[in-house]
Amino acid sequence: MNKEKEIDFKISVKGNIRDLLAFKNLASVRKKHIDKAPEDFIKFDPVNNLANQLHPSKQNLVISEIKDETKSAKTFKFIADPDSNTKKLAYFRAGQFLSLKVEVDDIPITRPYSISSSPSDALKGFYEITIRKEENGFLTSFIWENWKVGTKIESSGPNGYFYYDPLRDSREIMCIAGGSGITPFRSFAKEIMEGKLNITLTVLYGSSEEDDILFYDEFKDYEKRYPEKIKIINILSCEEVNLPDCEQGFMTAQLIEKYCKLDNSSFFICGPQIMYDFIDKELEKFSLPMKRIRKEVFGEIKDVVNIPNFPKKIAEKTFKIKVSIGNVLKEIPANAFESILVAMERAKLAPPSICRSGKCGFCRSVLISGDIFINPNSDGRRAADKIMNYFHPCSSYPMSNLEIEVPRSV
Ligand SMILES: Cc1cc2nc3c(=O)[nH]c(=O)nc-3n(C[C@H](O)[C@H](O)[C@H](O)COP(=O)(O)OP(=O)(O)OC[C@H]3O[C@@H](n4cnc5c(N)ncnc54)[C@H](O)[C@@H]3O)c2cc1C
Ligand code: FES
Repeated sequence: MNKEKEIDFKISVKGNIRDLLAFKNLASVRKKHIDKAPEDFIKFDPVNNLANQLHPSKQNLVISEIKDETKSAKTFKFIADPDSNTKKLAYFRAGQFLSLKVEVDDIPITRPYSISSSPSDALKGFYEITIRKEENGFLTSFIWENWKVGTKIESSGPNGYFYYDPLRDSREIMCIAGGSGITPFRSFAKEIMEGKLNITLTVLYGSSEEDDILFYDEFKDYEKRYPEKIKIINILSCEEVNLPDCEQGFMTAQLIEKYCKLDNSSFFICGPQIMYDFIDKELEKFSLPMKRIRKEVFGEIKDVVNIPNFPKKIAEKTFKIKVSIGNVLKEIPANAFESILVAMERAKLAPPSICRSGKCGFCRSVLISGDIFINPNSDGRRAADKIMNYFHPCSSYPMSNLEIEVPRSV
């Protein structure tokens, strides 16, 4: 008989007293098992195998299809790279993201992207992500020029906390999406239609103009097939709106009130930082409990110099950072307006990162000397870390020359 099959994982409940008495024999039973165990190493560990399948530190992917969505957005379909050790894709929860690890002109960087396909698609062997090209975007410009069917990409396992949790969230979900922030809600909608997520979704989706709307036909089709479960309202900020069923303007409290059951909805918000600033003020008018408002992290901000309390007089300065990373010690230049993570990436140090939003703690490092500015909206440090001089380079900016110690990338 196979050795691993001999291990007995059965747990049976016999009743309170008998269960308590069973602890009496625990030490002797354990010793018997240890004495009986074979001397050679256990080669099969079902618990760790499952944990690795669900939370792999990396996945090797290859692009199998590319679809143009709008003039500036494409959906990339990824499968496991058959030439790699990735045999199955990790399952995920609708709303989670992947962190892609890419080299642009020999500079190793990461970027997070929400998974826009359904969790069950991962079991069928693929993920989809939908990317909008940024004007002068460092990675997206590279993607538009270089990614094609067959391009190999390394990714993290699924990450993030932007998913529905029945213990916390209402079954009525009010989604507020801006730009490419619609992508996680496509995953939610697909899971609802598969009958695996029992919630209703009302999506208020803001775009600048008609051509920028992602998944217009798809969401209209979802709405038609599942009118009780899915509703989408497109909101265009441009002057002229020709599409039917479209609102014109911005996502004001008035508009939210028009489509939302305020007393029992949970809000899920995903979009650029500028939309969060606007929506925060509108939602304040309803005095909702905090637990009913869920926001996806928004990545690194583009205009740190405009944050109140940022020392504007140093905005144009470049400082020096002595970085100790793994067994490498290097002095690098760092612009005051760019995060310390970007400074390290520019210097090709390949620092670890996943969310780039100050929240996951993956880039957590030690500040040995110098002063930094921490974006208060992305300060995800624990209280103890603040005391012990730990910081997150993705949400921190140099205010003087620095000395820092950074963990090595996995
Ligand atoms: C949780 C999450 C989910 C997301 N999901 C999506 C999604 O579904 N779809 C989508 O389109 N986007 C998504 N994004 C945004 C995405 O991660 C990228 O920010 C976006 O694609 C733009 O990337 P970019 O590199 O083109 O531009 P930016 O990220 O704006 O790149 C410019 C950055 O590169 C730095 N840089 C410039 N030159 C160099 C250099 N030589 N070396 C190193 N760095 C340099 C700049 O300092 C600047 O910080 C998501 C973000 C988050 C946080
Ligand atoms: S990368 Fe997540 S906290 Fe810095």
